[in-house]
Amino acid sequence: MLSKRLHAVYKFIEERSIISDVGTDHAKLPCFVVSSGLSSKAYAIDIKEGPLLQALKTIEAQALQDKVIPILSDGISHLPSDCNAVTICGLGWLTCEDILMNDIQSLYKLDYVIVQLNKDYHLLRKWISDHHFTIVDEEIIYDGHYYIIIKFNTDYHESYSDLQILLGPVLMQKRTPLFIEYLEYLLLNLKEIIVNVPNDSEVYNNMQKEIQIICSILGK
Ligand SMILES: C[S@@+](CC[C@H](N)C(=O)[O-])C[C@H]1O[C@@H](n2cnc3c(N)ncnc32)[C@H](O)[C@@H]1O
Repeated sequence: MLSKRLHAVYKFIEERSIISDVGTDHAKLPCFVVSSGLSSKAYAIDIKEGPLLQALKTIEAQALQDKVIPILSDGISHLPSDCNAVTICGLGWLTCEDILMNDIQSLYKLDYVIVQLNKDYHLLRKWISDHHFTIVDEEIIYDGHYYIIIKFNTDYHESYSDLQILLGPVLMQKRTPLFIEYLEYLLLNLKEIIVNVPNDSEVYNNMQKEIQIICSILGK
């Protein structure tokens, strides 16, 4: 069984895609992609031997050795030639950025990339915007913590606005009840933190701006 978080990532994967799950650890996602019949093959990539052994255990337990291939490799630098999409889940932004930058050219050969960070979603959107890539979908879920899943491709897109980078162009369009709940949560957090920030600092001004933006979206 997949966690709610990984299931949300799974829902963004297109039928018959051959994914490489980078930073796979236990390989639950690529195994589910294949066992559910969404795709006939998947790759499970990790930089460390320990996690890759975990991956192998999951693969063997489900008798998927012919269909889920574990690869010991750093990021996206050696993607198999038949892989057309990448998933990167459960990582911090700095590691994710390293992975995306370690062979950025290989992204152009993919149909899409799905990233699920644990926080700092705006930093990923800023990176996508700076590279003029396109955010094709976004989803927010709650699984003991708000998680945002971002799907992008390398099609040209003009830079996203600061507001879109902060809150997500697709999430803002979808405006689901959970997104509104998330905005209320962000607002509460910002208001709690800002009281301890010197009011002549840049951090304070940025937080004030964020509060104003969120209030305007919430109609407050
Ligand atoms: C927190 S686990 C995430 C596991 C799984 N993706 C999930 O979401 O549940 C992160 C994994 O990423 C792997 N990792 C970190 N940097 C990597 C890199 N440059 N290339 C491949 N794997 C990497 C780590 O070894 C670790 O197993």
